Amino acid sequence: MKILAKNGNELLLLAMKGDAAAKGDYLLIEDKGRSMAVQVYDEEYLSSQSLIEDMVREEVVNASSAENLHDPLNIGSLSRLVRDARIFKAKIRAAVVDGRLTSDVTWLPSRVESKIRRLKMKELDSLLGRTGVYPIPVGRSGDEDFEIFAEDLDGKLTIITGKKESGKSHLSKLLVKTLVQHGAFVVVFDLNNEYGGLAYNRDGSPSSIHDRVMALEPGKGLKLSLDYCGKAAVSGMLKNALDMPPASLREFFRIWDWLENKKTLGVEAIGNAVNTWNINELVRDALVSRFHSIQSSRLFADSGGFRFEDAMKGGGAALIINMGESSGTVRRMTVELVLSKIVDLLERKVIPPIFLFAEEAHLYIRETYWEDLITRMRHFGVYTTFVTNQPDALNDGIYRQVDNIFLFNFTNDSDLEKIAKVSLADGDTIRSIVRTLPQRQCLAIGKAVCDLPVVVKVAASEVLTLGETKRFFKKKG
Ligand SMILES: Nc1ncnc2c1ncn2[C@@H]1O[C@H](COP(=O)(O)OP(=O)(O)OP(=O)(O)O)[C@@H](O)[C@H]1O
Ligand SMILES: [Mg+2]
Repeated sequence: MKILAKNGNELLLLAMKGDAAAKGDYLLIEDKGRSMAVQVYDEEYLSSQSLIEDMVREEVVNASSAENLHDPLNIGSLSRLVRDARIFKAKIRAAVVDGRLTSDVTWLPSRVESKIRRLKMKELDSLLGRTGVYPIPVGRSGDEDFEIFAEDLDGKLTIITGKKESGKSHLSKLLVKTLVQHGAFVVVFDLNNEYGGLAYNRDGSPSSIHDRVMALEPGKGLKLSLDYCGKAAVSGMLKNALDMPPASLREFFRIWDWLENKKTLGVEAIGNAVNTWNINELVRDALVSRFHSIQSSRLFADSGGFRFEDAMKGGGAALIINMGESSGTVRRMTVELVLSKIVDLLERKVIPPIFLFAEEAHLYIRETYWEDLITRMRHFGVYTTFVTNQPDALNDGIYRQVDNIFLFNFTNDSDLEKIAKVSLADGDTIRSIVRTLPQRQCLAIGKAVCDLPVVVKVAASEVLTLGETKRFFKKKG
């Protein structure tokens, strides 16, 4: 390979037939003791006007004469080689100074003298100083194993996005599983009831984290007592999930206080009080309709009930909130209650920081509210990973705070533009690499890869992967 030209912060490299590099590969350009790392992001034919005319001419001659042309100097094969020449477009990522990468590249390598070779992931990691204590093996990059570190998700905001069936939830399950193995506490908002599979291996035997996976369904395994939720969480739920007007909210808490004083706080007691309380009929209507939502959600238990602090003892656990069969209202109520309660426990330092995985978050929380939640929750120690196939469902404020993005394939131009505009890597790289990523491969961007994008082939999983779409027509075999 040879350097052909420089164009802004990219180099055009001339590659002959034997030179191979895949999109996403890193190359090291060495020139008299100095070196720089570049990343291939696109591949094209070498085309000049004369080359094209040449090819057309040869086709015309071939078509009109059946005889072999006399070519004693073997010019034909030479010209064929030229026609097969390709151009790799590569972004200049960093220069190597004293064995370390710096983003400050102030020199231009020689076109004649410089040597170009593949940079192995291992070499790149040691140049970057990318190490950690809690590895998460994600899969392979090129022909090497690739891992990120749990530390890079800790305290961070992460987005996993890509089109349908591209392998987002698969990666997310892999992250959850390894985090739990490392002793972390993870809460998952699961819309497909698929994360429960983490408890089992593919052959149906219990997995290594079997005892630490807790699948909770709102109204069944997940029932909370009003007392445990507290006023703040219930008020947030009434306001944000059930759109309760302020006047009714005031009355509701007057009833709450009265019952609490009598030590009879419970769903049933609230229902009775709503019917007999001396209030304006409009307010009563508002209260009655909310009360019915609360009652039918079966989210509240009069005694006992689930306690997060009890589940978050010992070394690591995954709390999977299975919301696949819940209605939109129940989902919103559940998420509101769970998040408020967790923030409350974190504030009081009853539980350690947690990782939150939210699948298709826009389906149960309003977009403006998420942003507030992210900022606030990160402060308290809730580190969120959004998993979505709709990148425009998350607003720009969230993208501005994001630390890591795992980007799977997108072919839809508007999704691609959206993500190219807001993400942490340059638009050219994203447009070109992501458009052609095969299923189950992703481009990792951000802190986890020290801001150098890496194409990763996500590993197959040893645990049961549920969540496949139910079909009417079964596939044969
Ligand atoms: N790296 C992988 N190795 C083996 N199988 C995989 C891998 N990634 C995904 N799969 C399988 O491909 C299918 C689709 O993956 P997954 O459910 O993760 O997609 P998704 O992007 O979450 O899709 P959706 O948008 O529908 O939620 C699943 O059956 C999953 O088990
Ligand atoms: Mg999914």
